[in-house]
Amino acid sequence: MQVLKDKIQAEGVVVQNSLLKVDSFLNHQIDPNLMMQIGEEFALRFKNSNVTKVLTIESSGIAVAIMVGLVLQVPVVFARKKKSAVCNDDVYSTTVYSFTKKESNYVTVSTELLTAGENIMIIDDFLANGEAALGLTNIVEQAGANVVGIGIVIEKAFQPGAEKLKNAGYRVESLVRIQSFSNGQVNYV
Ligand code: G4P
Repeated sequence: MQVLKDKIQAEGVVVQNSLLKVDSFLNHQIDPNLMMQIGEEFALRFKNSNVTKVLTIESSGIAVAIMVGLVLQVPVVFARKKKSAVCNDDVYSTTVYSFTKKESNYVTVSTELLTAGENIMIIDDFLANGEAALGLTNIVEQAGANVVGIGIVIEKAFQPGAEKLKNAGYRVESLVRIQSFSNGQVNYV
């Protein structure tokens, strides 16, 4: 997606040749126009999948997922990493380990929000090791719903996430795929 590559080129910062900082438009400040273009692109790619709900994980997936849901006119659910104040024990849950942050999160979705037989599209901002996305597929399957695919804004193709998901049989659609970082530059697949 050229507009996203242009934004990364203009505002992304490569940190220690392993991380891409995109706090100015995706992870901290959010560019709503870009989010809408991203939402339209994902909606186009999944237009024949009869998506009934979008599922993401807090926090950075939410802005993207809302736009996809708006364009497809379906609800958006985000998995929580922290317990809700309104205590609800009826949840689907899984543990997601973050290699980047070196921490585990107990991730939950209320059982009221996912129904057996639904067609769920999973959205996340980054795909690195794939633990977050795999955790979400696990939650969808606990609900007896179908994963129609996984939409990723920025895939780090040099890390194993996409391959793990594809080997598990899931369709993965990444808007940009990063091959490597070198001297502060981003090289695409
Ligand atoms: P995974 O997301 O594929 O499971 O891989 P990993 O465990 O390595 O990533 C953990 C967290 O680090 C995720 O955020 C992911 O989005 C983020 N991340 C991984 N690589 C990069 C990168 O190059 N740049 C940026 N900006 N983030 C990266 P999270 O824990 O879900 O946090 P949140 O930002 O969504 O709240």
